[in-house]
Amino acid sequence: MPTLIVTTRDGSEQSIDAATNVSVMEIIRDAGADELLALCGGCCSCATCHVYVDGPLANQLPAVTADENDLLDSSDHRQANSRLSCQINFTAELDGLRVTIAPED
Ligand code: FES
Repeated sequence: MPTLIVTTRDGSEQSIDAATNVSVMEIIRDAGADELLALCGGCCSCATCHVYVDGPLANQLPAVTADENDLLDSSDHRQANSRLSCQINFTAELDGLRVTIAPED
């Protein structure tokens, strides 16, 4: 099973054996990280699933869409590696992907 590595806001790291073809948001939420609010349930309308994608696999992700970009712009904590985790479909090719949950806005 591929692995998703998540760093939470307190700096602790968790390795999750992750299902594929679900969003990174769903994987994090189902693993019990309740600080990732994901209030809109993955509809790309809330930005409470904001993460930073770390490492070389960031380049393998699909491009940010216009809607995702607009929402990320609403965050005070946007960085160059910011993504909305509900918009990242986790695949076997992303095994070892590292994300850090962004600070709450
Ligand atoms: S869960 Fe709302 S934008 Fe991702």
